[in-house]
Amino acid sequence: MLAAPALPVPVKRPRRNRKAQWARRLVQENVLTTNDLIWPLFVIAGDKLRVPVASMPGVERLSVDMAVRDAERAAALGIPAIALFPYTDPALRDEAGSEAHNPDNLVCQAVRAIKHAVPEVGIVTDVALDPYTSHGHDGVLAGETILNDESVALLVRQALVQAEAGCDIIAPSDMMDGRVAAIRAALDGAGFQDVQIMAYAAKYASAFYGPFRDAIGTSATLVGDKRTYQMDPANSDEAMREIAMDLEEGADMIMVKPGLPYLDIVRRAKDTFGVPTFAYQVSGEYAMIEAAARNGWLDGERAMVESLLAFKRAGADGILTYFAPRIAEKLGRAL
Ligand code: PBG
Repeated sequence: MLAAPALPVPVKRPRRNRKAQWARRLVQENVLTTNDLIWPLFVIAGDKLRVPVASMPGVERLSVDMAVRDAERAAALGIPAIALFPYTDPALRDEAGSEAHNPDNLVCQAVRAIKHAVPEVGIVTDVALDPYTSHGHDGVLAGETILNDESVALLVRQALVQAEAGCDIIAPSDMMDGRVAAIRAALDGAGFQDVQIMAYAAKYASAFYGPFRDAIGTSATLVGDKRTYQMDPANSDEAMREIAMDLEEGADMIMVKPGLPYLDIVRRAKDTFGVPTFAYQVSGEYAMIEAAARNGWLDGERAMVESLLAFKRAGADGILTYFAPRIAEKLGRAL
């Protein structure tokens, strides 16, 4: 019989710090709190409507009265802010996305109603033409080209009607060049110095936006793709240049989008610029977790918590997530 070889005794035992829940809590480096959440809501015309989004189980398009209800729920849960996205009646969509700068469009109606009912909840409005154009692009299409400067002129008008309606944060998600400077100048010129700008600074041309396009009704109509303005998923230095430009142009906060597949960008952005940095856990990321959970393939609750904590670990100050109300409820009960 061979004697068992004597094993070296480990000098360091990292497992000591993991031996019990209290010990793990003591050394925990990152914490997710309700303060980190922005809840995206979809708005639709009508009354008392909650229309499910098939590719996003648990997410609904809300008529303005119901959006007010959810904003009240956000307030009750301690969620600091919501972000609004419209499903625009196809009859109101045109080549130039004119409905975007109608002061009485769905988003503006929702902003006014929510600000009136729950002034303490921050409202983020998206600036981009895609919910309003017949071709589903974020800017003006001429032939096969998205015209940059012509689009910026319209985005500025869109931002102004949103600010007039009372939104707190303008979030340009269109990826046109120079739009942050143009929007900042227009806001300041109109007396909206305190309206913040959260720039979708590093927004990639991603397959993970699919369910969102179902929600706002652009999947079927989108002509071509968005690769001439959204970024190539292969690039990282380019994201740093985009972020630097948006900050120079006056962005108060920056966002990286999508989320989980781009955590390296979140970390690099935070380390490079040290400014308020947000990540968007987009529709496709939500749909993947939900679909697997509903099939019994993974524990949806744990995957939700883990994915959101990962954003904090990567350096995000906040997360736009469709899980916001669910995680807020959970955080209220302590994880
Ligand atoms: C539109 C916009 C998109 C999202 C937010 N704003 C989609 C797109 O660029 O096609 C995606 C959000 C999500 O997928 O949850 N400018």
